[in-house]
Amino acid sequence: MDDRTPDGYLGKLTLEQKVRLLTGATTWRTAGEAGIGLREIVLSDGPAGVRGEAWDERRTSVLLPSASALGALWDEALVEELGGLLAAEAVRKGVDVVLAPTLNLHRSPLGGRHFECFSEDPELTGRTGAALIRGIQARGAAATAKHYVANDSETDRLTVDVRVSERVLREVYLAPFEQAVEAGVWLVMAGYNSVNGTTMTAHPLLAEPLAGEWGFDGVVVSDWGALRSTEEPARAALDLAMPGPQSPWGALLVQAVRDGRVPEAAVDDKARRLLRLAGRVGALTPYRRRLVPVGRSQGTRTLLRRAAAAGCVLLGNRGVLPLDPAELSTVAVIGAHATSPRAQGGGSAGVFPSGVVTPLAAVRARLRGRVRVVHVPVPLPDAAAPLDTDRCDDPRSGAPGVLLRVLDAQGRELHAEHRLSARQLEPELPPGAHTVEISALLRPRQRGTWTFGVGGFGRMSLTVDGRTLLDGVFPRETDDPAVVHVNPPVREASTELSSKRPVHVVARRELVEDSGRATVVTAAPPQPGARDAVAAAVRAAREADAAIVFVGTTEHDETEGHDRRELSLAGCQDDLVRAVAAVNPRTVVVVNSGGPVEMPWREEAGALLLAWFPGQEAGAGLADVLFGLREPGGRLPTTWGARLADAPVTRTRPVEGGLDYAEGLHIGHRAWLRAGRAPAYWFGHGLGYTTWEYEEVEAPAKATAGEAFTLRVRLRNTGARAGREVVQVYAARPESAVERPVRWFVGYAAVRAEAGRTVTAEVEVVPRALRHWSQEERAWVTEPGPYRLMVGRSAGDPRWEGEVTVERREVTG
Ligand code: BGC
Repeated sequence: MDDRTPDGYLGKLTLEQKVRLLTGATTWRTAGEAGIGLREIVLSDGPAGVRGEAWDERRTSVLLPSASALGALWDEALVEELGGLLAAEAVRKGVDVVLAPTLNLHRSPLGGRHFECFSEDPELTGRTGAALIRGIQARGAAATAKHYVANDSETDRLTVDVRVSERVLREVYLAPFEQAVEAGVWLVMAGYNSVNGTTMTAHPLLAEPLAGEWGFDGVVVSDWGALRSTEEPARAALDLAMPGPQSPWGALLVQAVRDGRVPEAAVDDKARRLLRLAGRVGALTPYRRRLVPVGRSQGTRTLLRRAAAAGCVLLGNRGVLPLDPAELSTVAVIGAHATSPRAQGGGSAGVFPSGVVTPLAAVRARLRGRVRVVHVPVPLPDAAAPLDTDRCDDPRSGAPGVLLRVLDAQGRELHAEHRLSARQLEPELPPGAHTVEISALLRPRQRGTWTFGVGGFGRMSLTVDGRTLLDGVFPRETDDPAVVHVNPPVREASTELSSKRPVHVVARRELVEDSGRATVVTAAPPQPGARDAVAAAVRAAREADAAIVFVGTTEHDETEGHDRRELSLAGCQDDLVRAVAAVNPRTVVVVNSGGPVEMPWREEAGALLLAWFPGQEAGAGLADVLFGLREPGGRLPTTWGARLADAPVTRTRPVEGGLDYAEGLHIGHRAWLRAGRAPAYWFGHGLGYTTWEYEEVEAPAKATAGEAFTLRVRLRNTGARAGREVVQVYAARPESAVERPVRWFVGYAAVRAEAGRTVTAEVEVVPRALRHWSQEERAWVTEPGPYRLMVGRSAGDPRWEGEVTVERREVTG
């Protein structure tokens, strides 16, 4: 047998060697096997950038817009290009496997990782995910479809048992993964959660439909720490336990095989898959990795800027946008997010960008020398940020940043290094390490009450100029790695700083087993009173020709490991928008969030723009849109309700360990349609800078089950500038023999046209769009008979309705 096939290599390995391959060698590496020329494979989060093996602020990454912003693109070619950027980053950082995309759905607006998922809709999610996968893998890096499956919220995510029917799984939650496999994805990540009583790392769904029916030949990797037992996952189709080297496999799995409790064939299959992956990413000696150009060129920034603009969704516009600099003499830029935008969400997806273009800087750059820009900062709760180079110096070297030390039990220094941020995973620990210390000279720009904080678990203390503000033991109350190692709770205390003289901040955390690896030191300056800030904003807005108000979520609202409790904007942001809009009709509100927020003032704003988490070129892309260099090209990937209380599906909190997906097929726009309720903005909505008339639709009267058909939609650009329109098609089947959504999304096409011109959008409806899963027949069935088709600008804005008749019943699978 040829050595270069996985079986050729497999034949050279003992049982112990094969089993060794099935657990990570480290947190981010698989095991290598020098004897067969197999090197370690490096994995990295994902999805908004490639962090690399180290959680280190000095090793920066290109930061893409987050997934909900990519879902808003409705542009698979652009998503594919962005996937190429992830691959280039992977190569630059020595990474083989990117842990992206996340293919879970926006089931509830409260989902903590909403920002990390594309959409509420399985078809849009599947297409966007497949495009990203193609983009990553075409350049030699591996993509990972995660988290398989029904891992759509965060509450009790390690243990929650999702109760969901087979049909709903097939049609809704598995559907994007099926498209990922069709796109050739090389890895699938099994989630922490259970489905119908079985944990996903040992679930029969790994075998069927994933490996069998869909023919997935890649590696199923566990979510980090999701493997909890030896035999069940070994007998199931889980291949790789991460992280390592500790895992329930290893010697226990070898023994289980020897005792006949796990067939050796199961181990062979897993090792074979791992070797196949190694071949694909060039980790076996005869194979070489395809090299791709390194990112970070001007081209990278241009692409990210284009993507940030293209994902913006214009929800409403009373002729205010785009702003014409020639008509302006003063612009008021208001709000905390103007200077501290949320470029990404929290948790394992987080990377360290080399910098983020703030909206204020970009607006100033665009208007410099022509228009006066007045900035009004507004306080937000949770304003504490980790100490960094902007505000602190290393007390030893004087360089901007902080000093990180590792001390022994007697307080002697074992290790010291200069760092750029006080959010740290401690470095490799020398023998005798007892305490991590982070210290800095803070340069306070304001006098008054400062709030300091230290985050982590175990015994911690914090002093400011020798005064103890915090000292106590803070036991770890969760196992969630995203909380323990990435985003631990921060304990806070306040003190008066009576001058702007630098103060010496010292935080210490004792290193005891099981207390996690993270230490964070934060500081928040005195906050202006909300009332004063709103009054200042109103004064500035009154005197300006236009006001741009930036509002959004805080670092604590949207992060892995927690679901949200509410959708209202924190602090005084609602009052702020109302007050500013009341004095200036040319008020543009820019919402900077990864998921839905309540906007009770939405009818009062002159224009309302969603920016999502736009990545490192946030401000640059936004300024292009605000001043009309680019059209806001995005459409909502998810329905936004006016109030949380209106949303038909919200629950993320399990009851007695179980989370019942009782709404069945009806999530997102389908749920709103079924409830007969109007949201604030439907799935698919978004305005752009021109207007369109839908002139004519050509649709076939008949279709053959199992074959695609096409609708031709002629549109006219009736506005004054060139633009892009996203033509959407929805289906309904009122006389169906089975339960159906009132209407569901089946396809789209995006077209461009110059002002006054017509263009024809060709929307292909693929066979999977009309089929349903029959639990009785355990097969896909396409019912014969009439289907209603709707062409429109969103799920709630039909422009044409017609009917297509499917000629015969088809059963597949
Ligand atoms: C997350 C995954 C991530 C992994 C590694 C887990 O907690 O759920 O999405 O890839 O950690 O960081």
